[in-house]
Amino acid sequence: MSAIVVVGTQWGDEGKGKVIDFLSEQADVVVRHQGGNNAGHTVVVHDREFKLHLVPSGILYPDTLCVIANGVVIDPKVLLEEIAYLEARGVDVKRLRISSKAHVVMPYHSKMDALNEERRGDQKIGTTLRGIGPAYMDKAARVGIRVGDLLHPGEFRDRLARVLEEKNHVLSRAYAVEPFDVDEMYDTFLAYGQAIKAYVSDTSRLVNAAIDRGQRVLFEGAQGTMLDIDHGTYPFVTSSHPSAGGAAIGAGVGPTKIDRVYGVAKAYTTRVGDGPFPTELTDAVGEDIRTRGHEFGTTTGRPRRVGWLDAVVLRYAVRVNGLSGIAVTRLDVLDGLPSLKIATAYEYQGARLTEFPDTSWQFRDVVPVYETLPGWDQPIGSVRRLEDLPLNARLYLGRIEKAVGVPVVLVSVGRERSHTIPLQSLF
Ligand code: GDP
Ligand code: IMO
Ligand code: MG
Repeated sequence: MSAIVVVGTQWGDEGKGKVIDFLSEQADVVVRHQGGNNAGHTVVVHDREFKLHLVPSGILYPDTLCVIANGVVIDPKVLLEEIAYLEARGVDVKRLRISSKAHVVMPYHSKMDALNEERRGDQKIGTTLRGIGPAYMDKAARVGIRVGDLLHPGEFRDRLARVLEEKNHVLSRAYAVEPFDVDEMYDTFLAYGQAIKAYVSDTSRLVNAAIDRGQRVLFEGAQGTMLDIDHGTYPFVTSSHPSAGGAAIGAGVGPTKIDRVYGVAKAYTTRVGDGPFPTELTDAVGEDIRTRGHEFGTTTGRPRRVGWLDAVVLRYAVRVNGLSGIAVTRLDVLDGLPSLKIATAYEYQGARLTEFPDTSWQFRDVVPVYETLPGWDQPIGSVRRLEDLPLNARLYLGRIEKAVGVPVVLVSVGRERSHTIPLQSLF
């Protein structure tokens, strides 16, 4: 029996989709438990690229059950488009299950996301504008619409009418925006409900039963630890819990059912959106890494900010997620760089910090303390065994292990499923 959680250790886009797809070969169930279509997970199989936003990355294996659990916020239009996209490419989506407790991202959420960002001006978060923050706000405010509501016309109509009255009031009075029409929204979302009805079920029950039967369950994190609403670089975060604890709440399983947690880390660091980023490279080296790594967002196409690996961030991710090990991705992107830097500590007002600071304003002003390591010349994309990596690539991985205190359990050297060097069994 094995239930494992895979989370991002940085600011998202670490290559979680690729790692989850690789591990899904051995999984019976893959579960998304937080976030929404702010996520963009890329999987490449035999040169075919799949971009997934809501459907778990296990869907490309024919027998894996894929669950969108209660902690996810779902834009049904995007979900239906994604199902159609997968079906058009020959992927069987019948093995998808959707929690009736998952909240629905409504049109007023996306509208509010855009209006809020506009109002913030130069203090903007740089959200994906997918309505994720406002949907989680409504969940917490207890005025959300859940997937199950869409399947009960009478109750849905009453609830929507009440919620929309308040939303229209705010939108028209505070923002002078055209109100939404309740009948139109009701018809549209009732139709979405009917279109996804066959997938809706009690997913907590299903996931627990799979674990109890001794099946292998993989929890697929979205975003990353540094975007966690509690543990990330608040307020420049998302509105859910990408850290490991989010899997328990977000899927309705007890923490005692989870065996291990693995973190995915890029061999360097990227961030899309605003907020502090101590190891950011704004020079030609950063531009070079962005270009060779094609660092442009999967969801929004925005250029990703690029920087050196930050081991202080990774150590923090080990702590708040209880990581058992890390998977290092995109090592190949560093091929040919003469030297590489790893931040092993920070300087803050003349003091040395080896732990991630407790406050946002400290983090904003830290200066990284770097160690410089030699790079390697040979391209490593075709390497499949650790011992075949150039010595300096192995030294780089060894330095990461030493700096973060947990083993590197997998190394990824390319986008393809096959471009993977597993170092131990994760299940
Ligand atoms: P996610 O959000 O964590 O799933 O990551 P994204 O899919 O948004 O971004 C990661 C990008 O890196 C995708 O384009 C992947 O195909 C790609 N990728 C993943 N692992 C590797 C790797 O080891 N090497 C290279 N070159 N690309 C990778
Ligand atoms: P995956 O799962 C990278 C970032 C946004 C913004 C902040 C808040 O592909 O790793 P939101 O729309 O969530 O309110 O935006 O979070 N963000 C991501 N960055 N990868 C993601 O997902 C992200 N999802 C949200 O850029 O800074
Ligand atoms: Mg992504």
